[in-house]
Amino acid sequence: MEFLALVKKRYSVRSYQNKRVEAEKLLKILEAGRIAPTGANRQPQRLIVVQEEEGLRKLKKAANLFGAPLAIIVCGNHDAAWKRSYDQKDITDIDASIVTDHMMLQATDLGLGTLWVCHFNPAVVRAEFNLPDNIEPVNILGIGYAAGEAESPDRHATARNPLSDMVFYEIYK
Ligand SMILES: Cc1cc2nc3c(=O)[nH]c(=O)nc-3n(C[C@H](O)[C@H](O)[C@H](O)COP(=O)(O)O)c2cc1C
Repeated sequence: MEFLALVKKRYSVRSYQNKRVEAEKLLKILEAGRIAPTGANRQPQRLIVVQEEEGLRKLKKAANLFGAPLAIIVCGNHDAAWKRSYDQKDITDIDASIVTDHMMLQATDLGLGTLWVCHFNPAVVRAEFNLPDNIEPVNILGIGYAAGEAESPDRHATARNPLSDMVFYEIYK
């Protein structure tokens, strides 16, 4: 599929079929996360795949995944992530989010629905999934076969602000 068509097709899925994501599809999604670019190629992403009943039950204590049968907890290793020398900015969140976006779009291309979730209780995720202090859960990506009617790929005409609101040429105005 043409890239912009794929991007327009994606929407946040908050209703899923009771169907497991095939292992081959999961592997392709993880591969997209593996090859994503990261700052200085430090590859701080650590991905926890949750698809068994017990894990999904634990995750439910931390976040609403709207019944997604598969979730990937996208974590970042602060010890591995690159830091900007000028101000020591730690880019763990940026790297983890590029990885999340790659996996989300790969899932879309495979005919799957996704939901990017940041509204979760990090302390609960840490405790339930045994995360050490240097490993931060940054995003959770819910994945599964969407139920219900798909959102229109044309919705962005009104659901997003126009370019003129966000793009500046040469200088911020
Ligand atoms: C960084 C990020 C965090 C998000 N966190 C949540 C969340 O915690 N819960 C939720 O239901 N949706 C969440 N969303 C989904 C957004 O609400 C959604 O992408 C946005 O409203 C645009 O709608 P669309 O994805 O259908 O195009 C998140 C999306 C992004 C990109």
